[in-house]
Amino acid sequence: MMRTTQRIAPNQIQLAAEMIRNGQTVAFPTETVYGLGADALNAQAVERIFLAKGRPSDNPLIAHVASVEQLPAISEHVSPIANILIERFWPGPLTIVVPKSIHVPDNVTAGLPTVAVRMPQEPLALDLIRLADRPIVAPSANRSGRPSATTWESVLEDLDGRIDGVICGPQTRIGLESTVVDTTTDRPILLRHGAITEEMIAEVCGEITASVPENSELRGRSPGTRHRHYQPRARVLLADNLNQIQPRGERLGMIGLANSKDAPSLAERLKSRFPLANILLCDSLEQYANRLFEFFRECDAIGVDTLYCQSVERKGLGRAIMDRLDRAAE
Ligand code: TXA
Ligand code: MG
Repeated sequence: MMRTTQRIAPNQIQLAAEMIRNGQTVAFPTETVYGLGADALNAQAVERIFLAKGRPSDNPLIAHVASVEQLPAISEHVSPIANILIERFWPGPLTIVVPKSIHVPDNVTAGLPTVAVRMPQEPLALDLIRLADRPIVAPSANRSGRPSATTWESVLEDLDGRIDGVICGPQTRIGLESTVVDTTTDRPILLRHGAITEEMIAEVCGEITASVPENSELRGRSPGTRHRHYQPRARVLLADNLNQIQPRGERLGMIGLANSKDAPSLAERLKSRFPLANILLCDSLEQYANRLFEFFRECDAIGVDTLYCQSVERKGLGRAIMDRLDRAAE
């Protein structure tokens, strides 16, 4: 299935939209991570996404819309709670699970009666969907099991020759995948943590069920959480304090938090203890989230064998970060 992957400049969105209309696969930036797009209503085009990624067919996709007018093509039954979430958080990094319309091909939803949908915020993504004039399904644009891609170069690292095109847009703003909330039950269920935090959702819709435990039957509700995910090649270990690591590897990577006041002295101490380590200190949770997946990829590229990641408090955006770190360390 090797083919030429077209590099598409941001001012050539019209070309990318035509490719989508022709049933081709095009990767594009969203505010979270790059997505691998195809016509949501064309089962054959959708199939090409699964082939390109090596994605298990039991893992459903997210449909992306550019306006609420496009929603009925995906779902005819949006609950009051879902509408509240849409009004408050769209466009933005929140995906909602709703009952699926019969027009949505079965391979989009992996045979489930529900479908995931979101309206992204990134202008290039919105333009693409608008010009294609149809919803676009898009999983994260990485080979299955690899960290999500937050730059177009990382998309090509995984998918060059396997997809038809990539829009060479900016590095994504958030860096972690969208929050996923199931709105088809009486009480919404948070299936994946993201930049729209549990606290933000609870504020607008009251009680929600969150943090799906490992062995709960709820796991079946979000098929993606069953699969291997977010894994660099290096062994990932969590650390409370980078300064107290007793290193176990040869080529070390370290990522953690330090405010701008403490960062220089901490960096110096780490450098003197671990002269060959690849070290990244972030000054906020936002930056940690934003740089994490690129750091994983960079460490892989230089042959890091053990990657220490500093744990953060499971609160706000910290939950989304810890969720990805837990999985990477599994
Ligand atoms: O930020 C994002 O959401 C990115 C960008 C491209 O929009 N997309 C993304 O897609 O992360 P993907 O395919 O990597 O993750 C989709 C997640 C998976 O965990 C999947 O199991 C879940 O959404 N999902 C999709 N449809 C579902 C459904 N009907 N019910 C429950 N979970 C669903
Ligand atoms: Mg993914």
